Amino acid sequence: MKATSTVTEDEVGILLAAAGQAPSMHNTQPWRFDINGRVIDVLIDVGRTLPVEDPAGRLTRIGVGAAAFNLRVAAAMLGHDTTLAIDPDPAVPDVVVRIFLAARKVPVAGLSSLYGELGRRYTYRGPMVDRPISARMLQRLTEAAKADGADLRWLDGEQHARLGSITRTADDRDIHEEDRLHERLRWIGGDREADGVPDDVLGPLPVRGAAVRDLSAGLERLGRDQVAFESTPIIAVLGTADDDEPAWVRAGLALQRVLLTATSYDLAASFLNQAVEYPDLRDQVRTLIGHDIWPQMIVRLGYPAEGSGLTPRRQWNETLHSRRP
Ligand SMILES: Cc1cc2nc3c(=O)[nH]c(=O)nc-3n(C[C@H](O)[C@H](O)[C@H](O)COP(=O)(O)O)c2cc1C
Repeated sequence: MKATSTVTEDEVGILLAAAGQAPSMHNTQPWRFDINGRVIDVLIDVGRTLPVEDPAGRLTRIGVGAAAFNLRVAAAMLGHDTTLAIDPDPAVPDVVVRIFLAARKVPVAGLSSLYGELGRRYTYRGPMVDRPISARMLQRLTEAAKADGADLRWLDGEQHARLGSITRTADDRDIHEEDRLHERLRWIGGDREADGVPDDVLGPLPVRGAAVRDLSAGLERLGRDQVAFESTPIIAVLGTADDDEPAWVRAGLALQRVLLTATSYDLAASFLNQAVEYPDLRDQVRTLIGHDIWPQMIVRLGYPAEGSGLTPRRQWNETLHSRRP
């Protein structure tokens, strides 16, 4: 096949549609893309950030990292090897990730095998089946995080209990802070067609103490069933050695590799992130897992006991900011 110095229109659609399937806090999809030949820049879409709940932009950058990972997976499926630079140019600070696509050859082993999981992965907020995850799978997930420079720490029973108490403190704050409630109202609940988290994926009402986050806590949502959750939740903290902007992007790359690998084992995940959204509580989580890493995401994994709808996305062309041949 003749090497070209650009990506075709069809390829652009495949790459950006894949990137757009990434998870993001409240499904704000805080990314946009500039394409210049075979170089794709991922930028933050400032109008889609969460200034109250995420003032430093940490969780935004995790979402952008996850989108960049999906883009690499789709490029690998199309036959493009990729290299990636985080914060590549101090002169253009808006560019968070720059992805260089090599000339198209054959599908890239490893990454391309995750392409089929992009549309199967979703955030699952219902109860899990009480069934352990095999040690081999746990090990593979830990390795997936390491491949992108992050650590996945599995919590034991005592750590679960301590996390439960930190999480309850966060839950109590969440429902009393007006500014946070307002921000969540913009993105959570109701019918949604392109972004935000619609009612039908919020899951059942968890009993207090369940290892799930009720994203609509404090917002009015009537008519939900209250259900019991799994008795022994499987929870891991994804952490990084550093805690700066590049580290947050790396956490996003690692998160998405972990989630897609988990999907390939028919596992689903949800997030108990409230405890890492408040700096003082995040410090407590850090103490819980050992002070050597910074907690970035708290992930609950398991085999889903129920079905769940998918969360909508924008059309890929709405995320394309500029394109030069
Ligand atoms: C950085 C980040 C933080 C998130 N925090 C939470 C959370 O605390 N609780 C939750 O239920 N979902 C959380 N999510 C999941 C998003 O709500 C979800 O990815 C988004 O709604 C898109 O849905 P999908 O993952 O099913 O495609 C988070 C996702 C990211 C990337």
